Amino acid sequence: MTKTRYKDEFPLFKENEGLVYLDSACTTLKPSRVIEAEMSYYREYGACASRSSHRLGRKTNGKLDECRETVAKFVGAESDELVWTKNTTEALNIIAHSIDVSHRKKVVTTVMEHHAALLPFMKLRDSGLIDLTILECDANGEIAMQQWEKAIDSDTRLVVTNNGNNTTGHVNDIKKIGNLAHDNGALLCVDGAQGVPHSKIRFKDSGADFLCFSAHKMLGPTGIGALVTKKELLKKMELFVIGGGTVKTVKLDKIEYDEGNTRFEAGIQNYAGIFGFAEACKFLSEISDLEAQEHKLRAVLIKAIDGAGAIRYGGDGKNYAPLCSFNFKNAKAHEVGLMLDKQDIAVRSGFFCAQPAIEALGAKDGAVRASCYIYNTEDDVKKFGEALQRLKTIYE
Ligand SMILES: Cc1ncc(COP(=O)(O)O)c(C=O)c1O
Repeated sequence: MTKTRYKDEFPLFKENEGLVYLDSACTTLKPSRVIEAEMSYYREYGACASRSSHRLGRKTNGKLDECRETVAKFVGAESDELVWTKNTTEALNIIAHSIDVSHRKKVVTTVMEHHAALLPFMKLRDSGLIDLTILECDANGEIAMQQWEKAIDSDTRLVVTNNGNNTTGHVNDIKKIGNLAHDNGALLCVDGAQGVPHSKIRFKDSGADFLCFSAHKMLGPTGIGALVTKKELLKKMELFVIGGGTVKTVKLDKIEYDEGNTRFEAGIQNYAGIFGFAEACKFLSEISDLEAQEHKLRAVLIKAIDGAGAIRYGGDGKNYAPLCSFNFKNAKAHEVGLMLDKQDIAVRSGFFCAQPAIEALGAKDGAVRASCYIYNTEDDVKKFGEALQRLKTIYE
């Protein structure tokens, strides 16, 4: 099969015929309907929301309410549980700076997290505000459940981890980790940047108290993401960024803040991005066999990498997102990336903003990552495999 039923919907392939795009874990390509939805804001709406009472302002308000509902529903949450953010990184920073750690200081995370999840908490640790426990991984980059059980205790305020790892693709058992956190009176923050695009998550019974994700990793625009959390937590969270749109009244000696989710959305928002984000969620909601197709693609990826004698990082199980990282023993990761690019195959090389994770896997100088999404076919991955076979003859 050279085309999925979706490939035609992505204009970038018309301009780049023959391109094998295997860098979706970095960012996904955008279908026409998402691009159109984004442009429709500038063409048909154009105004500010929640501020101007004129016709266009009201029209923008109405559409944004619809979009919030669509994106919240996509992850099984209520509209008023969703805060617009710039991306996953901003959502994670908001959480790090908003939760109260005055009574319990311990935060538990893992060496396998993206810098977006690790750095805000390392910074709090370095300022003496929290105690940070960073769990080690096994040879496949997985964290044993016993490690979580040992680390999460009655001192723990927050547990931070992903439901889709960006170096190996491994998906943590969020439900179990959430139960452990809750049994100990702690909260679970899930970095869903690589999980939400690939699996149907129902926030309410996922085990997560906070869920962060980015539109651009799931067919949507760059510059827009979401933080989903429970209403009772939203009420208790400290404000991080404040300004227009976050307050009820301001006197020079007193600020009365808004209540609820929108008080975390300071300043004019990325309206066009929000329109595109909602359209991306609608597109993905129409695909019923996403996970099954992606499992097949990962199996072909593994075959391609193993068949070329490369070192592959991560395991083979079913609980993996459709990506694999690897190295040729005698090659630099960036060199392999560029050699593949010459053959019209786009992959990522380096540390993927997860240097401690890559190093824990034993790839001291970085690795190469191939990642799939709905527009990829088995033929794409086979073409990648053939290219690896050619590289094998050079690097053996
Ligand atoms: C697991 C994970 N978390 C967080 C992020 C950060 O996402 P963003 O750059 O959209 O904020 C990424 C991006 O690659 C990621 O893979």
